Amino acid sequence: MGRSSTSATLRVFVALDLPLIVREELAAWLRQARLGRNLRPIKPENMHLTLAFLGEQSESRVSLATSLLSEFADREAPPLAVGAPVQLPPRRPRAFAVEVRPLDSGLARLQRDVAAALEPALGLHERRTFRPHVTVARLRRDFHPGDPPPPTPALEFEAEALTLYRSHLLSEGAEYEPLSTWPFD
Ligand code: 2AM
Repeated sequence: MGRSSTSATLRVFVALDLPLIVREELAAWLRQARLGRNLRPIKPENMHLTLAFLGEQSESRVSLATSLLSEFADREAPPLAVGAPVQLPPRRPRAFAVEVRPLDSGLARLQRDVAAALEPALGLHERRTFRPHVTVARLRRDFHPGDPPPPTPALEFEAEALTLYRSHLLSEGAEYEPLSTWPFD
């Protein structure tokens, strides 16, 4: 595989893994939406809900992030639901996504705690508001939405695990490699 980042740093992020059935339903919904050719669907195995994007980090900082994240292993799975379709970022969209609706305060608490643990340790400061979503397709520059997409599937589910991912930027699209995974109870 022609991987682009071979230097000493790794491009990493923290995400929630969602049940495969949910990711497959989202892929099926996207196919049904018939949004044309100017978008590139994301395979169900690459779909996730990002909690914190950590960017390029040295191996030692990835080890530090791993040990900090292991503190979250005994958390309860946040209950979630599939929300509305959304294009992100709103002004010049590059991603077609579905919002994820938290069904209690668990997701917000988990995201806040993960960010509070990792950002000072890694020297990061995320200014953007957390907007939970699952990207289901990347948009090419000349994407123009036609008809509005059909309603998203009405699904309620629990996140399965917290995972530290490495992102490989490939010409055919990014691939995400799990480095460490902490399943929820
Ligand atoms: P996205 O799906 O909305 O693009 C890996 O790139 C994951 O980190 C994706 O889920 C991506 O969100 C997210 N991410 C958040 N901030 C990012 C950034 N500045 N650059 C790339 N990806 C980012």
